[in-house]
Amino acid sequence: MLDDGYSDLSNHDSFADGVPHKTFDRLRREDPVSWTEGNGTAKGFWNLTRHADILQANKDYKSFSSGQGIRIEDQSHEEYMARRTFQETDPPEHSATRRAVNPLFAKQVVANFEELITQLAADIVDAALKKNEFDVVEEIAKQLPMLMLGRILGVPDEDLPWLVDKGDALIGNSDPDFTTHVVDQMDTEAYRLMPFRNPAGADLYAYAAEILSGHKQVGQDGILARMMQTQDMLDPLAFKNFFCLLVAAGNDTTRYSIAMAFHLLTQNPALVTQLKTGRYWDAVADEVIRLASPTMHFRRTAIQDCELHGKKILKGDKVLLWFISGSRDETVFKDPHTARLDRGANRHLAFGQGGVHVCLGMHLARLEVRIALEQFIKRIDTVEAIEAPNWTRSNFICGVKKLNLRVKVL
Ligand code: HEM
Repeated sequence: MLDDGYSDLSNHDSFADGVPHKTFDRLRREDPVSWTEGNGTAKGFWNLTRHADILQANKDYKSFSSGQGIRIEDQSHEEYMARRTFQETDPPEHSATRRAVNPLFAKQVVANFEELITQLAADIVDAALKKNEFDVVEEIAKQLPMLMLGRILGVPDEDLPWLVDKGDALIGNSDPDFTTHVVDQMDTEAYRLMPFRNPAGADLYAYAAEILSGHKQVGQDGILARMMQTQDMLDPLAFKNFFCLLVAAGNDTTRYSIAMAFHLLTQNPALVTQLKTGRYWDAVADEVIRLASPTMHFRRTAIQDCELHGKKILKGDKVLLWFISGSRDETVFKDPHTARLDRGANRHLAFGQGGVHVCLGMHLARLEVRIALEQFIKRIDTVEAIEAPNWTRSNFICGVKKLNLRVKVL
């Protein structure tokens, strides 16, 4: 669908050929707190598109709450209660679970995975480069996050492709390439109490139930085994939803960030040369993730009436924090749509920085993106795209889902 600067942000098709950046550019410039009309079944919502406004609202959880849902979808209280995770709560409720999981994803803890990630990435890249033409999303970008998620959760490798397919169906619930139950094209009422209103949620619940019953063994060092021993996960439903959250959050986001890195290399071959100097490895992951910003927004709900840039936001209104737009705000980033490895401090918002829900997996994601690229760059001479990338059909998650490359190996 053509992005003429006025794309309908409620329509998944507006994103099917890539993110409508002209629309976000215009909104930041002309209408930073814009309103998108509802469509009969769904209520309308506010769009915050400037860096400073997103940062401020994200900090202010007392005014902009996560406790009534974090996606555009309107949920009944019953649906919310059935599906919520700690991501859909505010402090102090949120803080208890966050405190329990934080140490498992701390920077120093994740740094211990460097050797493992390097080995996995080297094997994945070597296998891919046996051919000089291949789909880099399938062969590289998808593989590393999948294997790492398995290590972190402590689930067997043979289950991973199945788990990843289910995670794709959840997070890609508006894309017919990922699910038979496309959320805006068919009746998903039967799944309204399942994560993302999708039957894959039922399959993942069943898998989590097997872990709880002991029929499915998980590694004792993994997050699942450790979280099962905490107070927060005593309720089986809390554990099942936590499991679904990790399967959904830990995979596609990192995959689409790695895929964005390859897309950028094909767009701008000078990046290959720059990376080969070895000077930019500390900067590259954040710059790629800034431009990828795969979870484009999360929603908050206004707790009281307020006014922002002359617009009256009413109590109960849905307010979307468009991290993807804030991360390309021209008042913060020079050449916002260009990959620049010399930015210095990179204040992007792709991880929801500034808020209490700031991404739990960000250190892991950065490490995976950097190492996947390192292993690729040191083995190749040139890389080019054979055809244009395929993008996800979703106004929530964006990414390149297919990118055929031609590579000249060193
Ligand atoms: C480049 C990759 C990633 C991106 C761009 C990303 C993005 C985000 C964002 C924007 C949030 C904030 C949500 C909000 O404000 O409501 C978030 C939260 C979260 N992320 Fe990530 N994420 C990535 C990778 C991961 C990975 C690898 C994991 C786990 C293995 C993960 C697990 C989580 C969890 C559990 C939360 C909820 C934290 C909370 O509510 O306190 N993410 N992520």
